[in-house]
Amino acid sequence: MSVLGKKVSFHDFQPELESFREAVLEGLARKPKQIPPKFFYDKTGSKLFEAILEQPEYYIPGIERELLQTHADEFAELIEPGAILIEPGSGSCEKVQLLLEQLLPAAYVPMDISGDFLQQSACDLGQQFPWLRIYAACLDFTRQMIVPKDVPAGRRVVFIPGSSLGNFDPLEVQHFLGGVHRLVGKGGGLLVGVDRKKATAVLNAAYNDAAGVTAAFNLNLLERINNELDGNIRRDKFRHYAYYNDQMGRIEMHLISLEDQQVTISGQDFRFTEAECIHTENSYKYSPDEFINLANASGFRHQKSWSDTHHFFSIYFLEAC
Ligand code: AVI
Repeated sequence: MSVLGKKVSFHDFQPELESFREAVLEGLARKPKQIPPKFFYDKTGSKLFEAILEQPEYYIPGIERELLQTHADEFAELIEPGAILIEPGSGSCEKVQLLLEQLLPAAYVPMDISGDFLQQSACDLGQQFPWLRIYAACLDFTRQMIVPKDVPAGRRVVFIPGSSLGNFDPLEVQHFLGGVHRLVGKGGGLLVGVDRKKATAVLNAAYNDAAGVTAAFNLNLLERINNELDGNIRRDKFRHYAYYNDQMGRIEMHLISLEDQQVTISGQDFRFTEAECIHTENSYKYSPDEFINLANASGFRHQKSWSDTHHFFSIYFLEAC
């Protein structure tokens, strides 16, 4: 444990970094080829993701921000002051700032895999909210969720904004929510943002923005392979492809090979036929019934939810029972 400020501490649970090399070599040997979306986020990828959040077609951040601001008092009534607020994948801790003055938690536990970024975000937050006790936990929340020992007792509430659960498949979500249930215990809470099913044209536009930022984000994975894994992939021989798969209820992102070609990565050769894809991301969309059923199966009971007038996005408050 290290002390970062009067009320800010940092706890390093030393997450094992899954090898990018193994994931790429193993994923490209599969049929169909695939690379997990967590590898989008190198320095350039993280910047491009920040830029996606600014695109007019990508409706999630704007709607979520408005819902969080508008309904903060209602969340506070359900959560009550003195809770232990836990945020897996907290990143820049930006969204929680919209809630802190209303929720008045006894402690905030941001969890992130990137230690430097987490320390910086926790320090910045501590300066902005000097009354708040912050226990930053450096870990990979998809593998382990641990609350530091010195966090005070209190009702635990997990906060997951941004529809990040959408990048897991439904079985993984159920498994993950089971872990959240164990972490918060009976009577604990979950405040979560979830993207909804909607017109295909709206979804397709959100992942094919006119400025080409999502395309650049997807294609950057090839640059990352070249830079970090000694690859010789020509980015201009691939194209971004994202579409809503109605049957699966998800956006799928792929990189399509524009011709028959061979690439070499870390000394290993991989062949592509023309139009062959690398599947890089799924983003599931849930109707309220679908999501509530999934949460019920993990031991949560729906208490209240909020949505925008177009029913594009919902925030749910669920209680562990
Ligand atoms: C991080 N996640 C919730 C985003 C999504 O919408 O699935 C990632 C993203 N991929 C392309 N655009 C945004």
